[in-house]
Amino acid sequence: MIKLYDIDHVVMGVKDLDESVESWQNEFGLTEVSREGSQSFLVCNYEKPSLILQKTPEAGILHAAYQLAPELTLDDAEKHLKEKRVQFTRSETAVSFEDLEGNGIQFVNYRPKEGQDKFPREWRQATQSHRIGAPRKLGHVNYLTADINRQVDFYLNVVGMKLADKLGADAGAFLHVGADHHVMAFVNTGQAHFHHIAFDMEDWGQIRQSFDHLAQYGRVMPWGPVRHGIGGNLAGYVRLPEADCFIELYSDMEQLDATHEPREYPDDRHSSNVWGMLPPRSYFRFDAESIKAERESLQSIWEKEPALLGD
Ligand SMILES: [Fe+2]
Repeated sequence: MIKLYDIDHVVMGVKDLDESVESWQNEFGLTEVSREGSQSFLVCNYEKPSLILQKTPEAGILHAAYQLAPELTLDDAEKHLKEKRVQFTRSETAVSFEDLEGNGIQFVNYRPKEGQDKFPREWRQATQSHRIGAPRKLGHVNYLTADINRQVDFYLNVVGMKLADKLGADAGAFLHVGADHHVMAFVNTGQAHFHHIAFDMEDWGQIRQSFDHLAQYGRVMPWGPVRHGIGGNLAGYVRLPEADCFIELYSDMEQLDATHEPREYPDDRHSSNVWGMLPPRSYFRFDAESIKAERESLQSIWEKEPALLGD
């Protein structure tokens, strides 16, 4: 029986490693703690690296890694995947495989917090200074899918997550491993694509400060601020065209306890954003035209680009 403890890190393929490290440090407030060959390791605070940037010819997310429950080993994970007849590769530190739509997944060992890291960052004595925007932690990943029911089944039975909630019968699904409402989620858009990496922020104040800061770097927020109905989090999203995805900054996510039973939320605007607006259509697209439309807010300017409004 497979069981996960938490999300561990995400590996993001980037074309220009130096430029991306600078961007993640200056714009999003992460800190590079080491560099090995074509990889850079970044932390939100004092934890083991949450984001690994890897120089690749094609930019995009390479995999999301999850820590096994403390009582499990990589041998257990390997045995489990063999039983499920899932192809995998094994290294000293990870078992790697893919989901049904080719998204990379890794199991890594549980990593107990040591020393001062057992305590909240606000309490501990600083060993490094934090930059503007430094999130509390890596929170979740989100994928667009063309095969939501089979993918959810795979993440429940093979990856070892639990269903938190569903949006409609098959419009979206949110999966958790611990108290946080979700560590990964699917949106059924009829097309598979990585959508976003989400970072947990202290509060609305830190989110506001971060988006003000990101605006100075020319980042565009196509959707937000919102209060999600499912998950309850306050959130905003900026596009990261150079990594073919979005970054979500959020706080105040619903906390689940051991008695949680999955709910099916109506597939409506209120479940997505209780405050109002749904995202523009570009939010689920990654082509150059959509990125341009979003950057120039063309979807909100009726006279100029009526074609973008659709039927
Ligand atoms: Fe999210």
